[in-house]
Amino acid sequence: MLLNNKNNGHLVEVRDLFKHFAIEGSEDVVRAVDGVSFSIFRGETLGLVGESGCGKSTVGRCILRLIEPTAGKVSFEGRDVLSLDKADLRELRREMQIVFQDPYASLNPRMRVEDIVGEPLVIHKIGTKAERRDRVADLLRRVGLDPTYSKRYPHEFSGGQRQRIGVARTLALNPKLIVADEPVSALDVSVQAQVVNLLQDLQGEFGLTYLFISHGLAVVEHISTRVAVMYLGRIVEVASAVELYARPLHPYTQALLSAIPVPDPQRKRKRVVLEGDVPTPINPPSGCRFRTRCPIAIDECAEIDPDLREIFPGHSVACIRVPGWETAHPQITQITQIKSAQSDVAPKSVNQG
Ligand SMILES: Nc1ncnc2c1ncn2[C@@H]1O[C@H](COP(=O)(O)OP(=O)(O)OP(=O)(O)O)[C@@H](O)[C@H]1O
Ligand code: SF4
Ligand SMILES: [Mg+2]
Repeated sequence: MLLNNKNNGHLVEVRDLFKHFAIEGSEDVVRAVDGVSFSIFRGETLGLVGESGCGKSTVGRCILRLIEPTAGKVSFEGRDVLSLDKADLRELRREMQIVFQDPYASLNPRMRVEDIVGEPLVIHKIGTKAERRDRVADLLRRVGLDPTYSKRYPHEFSGGQRQRIGVARTLALNPKLIVADEPVSALDVSVQAQVVNLLQDLQGEFGLTYLFISHGLAVVEHISTRVAVMYLGRIVEVASAVELYARPLHPYTQALLSAIPVPDPQRKRKRVVLEGDVPTPINPPSGCRFRTRCPIAIDECAEIDPDLREIFPGHSVACIRVPGWETAHPQITQITQIKSAQSDVAPKSVNQG
């Protein structure tokens, strides 16, 4: 069961996060993440959704510090993740784990399942050999696998089973946060729901908090407590899942949502087809970066770079044409773009309120 967000506070806070990748032989940078702020409440599942290349995985990797952000702040239970030294970061990694998209690539083909799942325990010197064996058997059972399979190798399993092995491994150290980066995208549609259900069950059992990354809104609908929608390195809308699916405000969210078939004819949505390709994150459009594909763009959209503003309680959107946006309170600060991936100067904030 999900915990009450309000009473349990933030597990993770991300503020003004930037990740710019340098391009060899060029002064330009890839603005993969370009000023993103959000929180993850203890016990919730925050869905992070957007098209390929919008920066979802980069956000997830920056939170775990698998890559170093260019600028910004990440805190985990109040601890400043980005200032931790190697030893402290190693300790923190016990509490933050990642499940990858591709269960084929993420498991070492030359290791037996028992060694894959038990490896984090060995690395962190937890338990005796016998205790570790028992723990691995227990973890395999919890993810729905027969512990007698523990001597087998990854290639002897189906895609869904391999993802279960990956999940068992992430649970070995009793983490608090799991970043699930498109954990079912590479699986057959028929087993996707099984793995999502498993993650949901484990959440209640282990008191887990998830950042659940997906390129479509359909996958995260039932598992998410709240959903954040990303476009070209920015979050353009965030709301509770119930609210977002019932009342999407941003034209991009509306387009993503309109692509999901709805069985109930009463709730039929008009299909919004987005024209054109996603612009390059090396040189995003001026003003609102969605304007080159937005069906309701006006001239001002080329001038104003809208920040996220809270239109309804807990429901924020970055679009000048959403009624109420102009007078709403900015939820976060509007960030001036930073110039270089190597810059160690924190970006300046410009309050548009
Ligand atoms: N190591 C890197 N070096 C240079 N550019 C990178 C690197 N990693 C990611 N990028 C670029 O950053 C942008 C965001 O990538 P990211 O992988 O975060 O997107 P994503 O939303 O996870 O996409 P997908 O749905 O395809 O996984 C893309 O333009 C990508 O090409
Ligand atoms: S600000 Fe303009 S371009 Fe951006 S989403 Fe709103 S209407 Fe579309
Ligand atoms: Mg990705």
